[in-house]
Amino acid sequence: MRDRDRGRQAMTKTVLLTGGAGYIGSHTCVALIDAGFDVVIVDDFSNAAADVPTRIARITGRVSPVHKVDVADAQELDAVFAAHPVDAVVHLAARKSVPQSLSEPQGFFDANIAGLFLQCDRLWHARGIADP
Ligand SMILES: NC(=O)c1ccc[n+]([C@@H]2O[C@H](COP(=O)([O-])OP(=O)(O)OC[C@H]3O[C@@H](n4cnc5c(N)ncnc54)[C@H](O)[C@@H]3O)[C@@H](O)[C@H]2O)c1
Repeated sequence: MRDRDRGRQAMTKTVLLTGGAGYIGSHTCVALIDAGFDVVIVDDFSNAAADVPTRIARITGRVSPVHKVDVADAQELDAVFAAHPVDAVVHLAARKSVPQSLSEPQGFFDANIAGLFLQCDRLWHARGIADP
């Protein structure tokens, strides 16, 4: 193991990045990895190309775990939290079309709002903060 990698391992924090294959998320993923974080990507790929994680790995030289998961699905999210020691969440999984948000408000609420609360809840429990 190189010194650089050993130092990195000792201090690495894990960020769960939702929407990590999206436009803002993929750039955020590269920036987080460059800053020394481990990143776990959660994305349902409803608005992202399947090869984005591979392209991120090519840029950063690091392969991040990817979970094809809907952020509003509590069971799937639990499995992600069980699989990784998550220290923080960056929530960028979202739907953003204004016309669609008017015709389909529930789907937007589920991804943008309910998904956020669900992740906060799972993170607090994972960190032992049951009643924040
Ligand atoms: N693009 C911009 O210029 C910009 C500017 C300011 C704020 N934002 C905000 O940043 C956030 C991300 O925007 P973006 O431009 O990267 O959008 P994007 O559509 O490129 O990325 C969103 C990602 O979330 C995923 N996703 C959507 N619903 C999901 C769900 N239920 N579960 C899991 N993954 C899901 C999509 O597959 C996609 O990869 C949005 O909240 C947007 O409003 C974007």
